[in-house]
Amino acid sequence: MKNKIEKIRDEFLKQLAQVTDNETLRELELKYLSRKGEFSEIMHGLKDVSIEMRKELGELANTVKTEMQTKFNEISRSLENYGKKSEFIDVTLPGEKFTNGHIHPLTLVQNEIEDLFTSLGFMIGDGPELESDYYNFTALNVPPLHPARDMQDTFYIDSKNKDGQYDLVMRTQTSPVQIRLMQKYGAPLKAIIPGRAFRSEATDSRHEHTFYQLEGIMIGKDINFANLKNMLEIVGKKLFGQNTELRMRPKFFPFVEPGNNGEYTCSLCQGKGCRVCKYTGWLEIVGAGLVHPDVLRAGGIDPDIYSGFAFGFGLTRLAMLKYNINDARLFNSGDIKFLEQF
Ligand code: DAH
Repeated sequence: MKNKIEKIRDEFLKQLAQVTDNETLRELELKYLSRKGEFSEIMHGLKDVSIEMRKELGELANTVKTEMQTKFNEISRSLENYGKKSEFIDVTLPGEKFTNGHIHPLTLVQNEIEDLFTSLGFMIGDGPELESDYYNFTALNVPPLHPARDMQDTFYIDSKNKDGQYDLVMRTQTSPVQIRLMQKYGAPLKAIIPGRAFRSEATDSRHEHTFYQLEGIMIGKDINFANLKNMLEIVGKKLFGQNTELRMRPKFFPFVEPGNNGEYTCSLCQGKGCRVCKYTGWLEIVGAGLVHPDVLRAGGIDPDIYSGFAFGFGLTRLAMLKYNINDARLFNSGDIKFLEQF
C-alpha cells in the first residue's frame, strides 16, 4: 500500500510536469485528486488495514496528498497567468456605452437662480425641513389659531415637546429660514434659500404634498419697495427673457407689509393670453413684500434701524413653466423617461 501511494505520487508529478494546457490539467485533477480519483480510493482502502498500519499509512497519505495538491495549485496558477498574457483583444469591437446622468429640471432652475443671486452678492442659506411650529408660523406673524394657518395645512409630527405639546411640523414654506438666518447673521443680510416644503394636500396635476420653493431676503438700512421691484424684474428677465415685464398686485401675507403677488408676462404666449395664464397674459409666480416689523423683531433685528424685503418663488411651478411640464407629480416620480429629457 505504501508503494502504491508513492507510485501514484510519482506518476502524478511526472504527468503534471508535462502539462501545457488547462484541459489536461483538469483531466489530471479528476483522475488523481477528485473525490472519485485514485487518491480517494486509497483513503477508502485504509479502513481494511490494521489499526497500527492505518495510522502510519494515513499520515503518509495525507502528506503526499498535500504535496500533490500544492504542486497542482502551482502549475494551475502559472497556467492561468500564461493564458492571460496570450489573451486576444479585438480592438475593432464596439466599446461599452456609458450613459450620462441627467440634471433634474428642478436643479436646473435652482442653479440658474442661484447663479444670478450669488453674482449679486447673496448667500445661499439652508434650514431644517422638520421645523418647529414656532419658526414655521408664530415667528412669521401667524400665531396659533390665526386663520392664515388654514391655508397651509401640513404634516404634524407625533412627538411632544417638554411642555406636552406637539410642536414639530414638516415646514410648509421656506420662509422660516428667514428668521433663522436673521438670528444667526443679523443685519445687513442678503440671502436666498432654496428647499423643499410640504403640505397636506389632495394631489393633482398642479399640487404635490412635497414641492420646492426659493425664498429670498434682503435686510439693510433704507431698503424699500423700489429695491424689491427692481430685484424681481431682474429675476424675471433672467428666467423668461429680456422682454419679460413684471406687475405687482396687492396680496396679504402675514409676514410682509405691504405684501403683493408678482406676476410676469406669460412666457408661453408672450402676454397674448393662453390656457396656462388663463387668458390674462400674466403668470402669478412670486409672493413678496417688505418684511413686517414683528418678523424683524422675531429675528432679533431692530425695525427702527433696518428694513428689508422678502420674496418666495414656487420653484416647482417655475420649472413647470420653463420646461412646459404639465404635471407637478412628475418631479418626484423617479420616472427615467421623464428625467432623460433634460
Ligand atoms: N411663503 C409664502 C408661501 O409659501 C410665499 C412668500 C410670500 C414668501 C411672500 C415671502 C413673501 O418671503 O414675502 O405662500
